[in-house]
Amino acid sequence: MHPVAATITIGRAPECAVVLTDVLVSRHHAELRQVGGRWQLVDLGSWNGTHVNGKRITTAEIGPDDVIGIGHALFRLSGDKLVEYTDDGDIGFAASDLVVTRSGKRLLDGVGFTLPQRSVLAVVGPSGAGKSTLLGALTGQRPADTGHVHYAGRDLYEAYDELRQRIGLVPQDDILHPQLTVRRALRYAAELRFPADTPAEDRERRVEEVLAELGLSGHAEQRISTLSGGQRKRTSVALELLTRPSLLFLDEPTSGLDPGMDKSVMQTLRALADGGRTVVVVTHSPAQLDLCDRVLVLAPGGKPAYFGPPGEALAYFGQADFADMFLLLDQSRDVDWAKRFRESPVHARYLGPAAPAAAPVATRQPPERRRAQQPAWRQFAVLCRRYLAVIAADRAYALFLLGLPRCSACSRRSCRATPACRGRRARRRRIRASSSCCWCWGARSWGSPPRSGRW
Ligand SMILES: Nc1ncnc2c1ncn2[C@@H]1O[C@H](COP(=O)(O)OP(=O)(O)OP(=O)(O)O)[C@@H](O)[C@H]1O
Ligand SMILES: [Mg+2]
Repeated sequence: MHPVAATITIGRAPECAVVLTDVLVSRHHAELRQVGGRWQLVDLGSWNGTHVNGKRITTAEIGPDDVIGIGHALFRLSGDKLVEYTDDGDIGFAASDLVVTRSGKRLLDGVGFTLPQRSVLAVVGPSGAGKSTLLGALTGQRPADTGHVHYAGRDLYEAYDELRQRIGLVPQDDILHPQLTVRRALRYAAELRFPADTPAEDRERRVEEVLAELGLSGHAEQRISTLSGGQRKRTSVALELLTRPSLLFLDEPTSGLDPGMDKSVMQTLRALADGGRTVVVVTHSPAQLDLCDRVLVLAPGGKPAYFGPPGEALAYFGQADFADMFLLLDQSRDVDWAKRFRESPVHARYLGPAAPAAAPVATRQPPERRRAQQPAWRQFAVLCRRYLAVIAADRAYALFLLGLPRCSACSRRSCRATPACRGRRARRRRIRASSSCCWCWGARSWGSPPRSGRW
């Protein structure tokens, strides 16, 4: 508890009245001021924002019912006390009646579950059943049209601005720059995600911690392009862990891996959950499901066909193995798997008594354009440096770029000598051609930029 003086500063710097040692918090992050008997919260130009009831603010009046979110910490005013509690991962996660419709087609149909703390949930189902769609809805990146996602008792969609900092998402396709070494990729990600006033040694310490946590210290100086599939996936997870998310979502992290790597990645996820995170993993591989606490089986059309312990799933479907279960779900599309599950004792055991049909929920408005976590100029500067590092890592391309002005000069000289090439148009054509040539090689060399909106 922090007794509230007339003004208190909150931040990472030791001189603040409330010191938060959190990589998401700026040195001088926010200030609580007493103005005419009322409390006013002012953001001091922080990097990752000050939030009140989940919304980012610059200045806001605070009452006893308001929840202040700064980094991983939450505060409430209680009389003349500022009561603080930190979200250290011990949180509940729940979804209810999630429905997603796109182009008139229902992709997710009434999915709901509650997840015990520090647990791993596996989402399985035939291809096209809606697993990635579900992850989009659970992370808030592509919110469901109706239904709710609750995180530590708070509505994720309502408080997305604040809560998204605690969510890590490893998408189905890797978004790594293969030319960089593992350590360099992590350093750039840390620069992009941590406040600008974070000392380099703090960023470095966090990078080393994450490398060690994922067993990547021995590969830190290795280029990502030379890593094995499992090591590459662990690097993707490491990027997400930098900001210490409490919830980690992974879309098929083990696809294409051999059984040993599959097991190694799943064991890593188990360890992450045991260390204080909640993990949701989409997988096609049934071999390691026993490492998970719960499994959610989706039938085609995004219908929940089972939710419970992995060990009881096969008995529930009356199948000998998971391959047969997938076939059964795919081939019996006329069966109402969701209704069957709702009426089963398994549902009652793991999701409580069958709830009465939910009242229709108003369709959610498309989300407002989300605010960038950091100023555009800083992101641009770090991205430029990262692209330069990517180019420098490809020696052939770097030499090509360095030699380009000399080539152009030579070609200009030879052109002046040719009467046919004297015209301006011809020169412009040549410049355009060399730029396209440069860009083609660049596209090959730089690889695809991040597509998920994360860095
Ligand atoms: N924007 C969209 N408009 C229409 N249909 C879509 C859209 N996005 C996805 N779909 C369809 O929704 C269904 C579910 O897609 P989703 O990517 O969630 O499946 P999945 O279970 O993750 O499949 P996989 O295991 O192959 O990755 C698919 O049939 C897909 O074609
Ligand atoms: Mg998918």
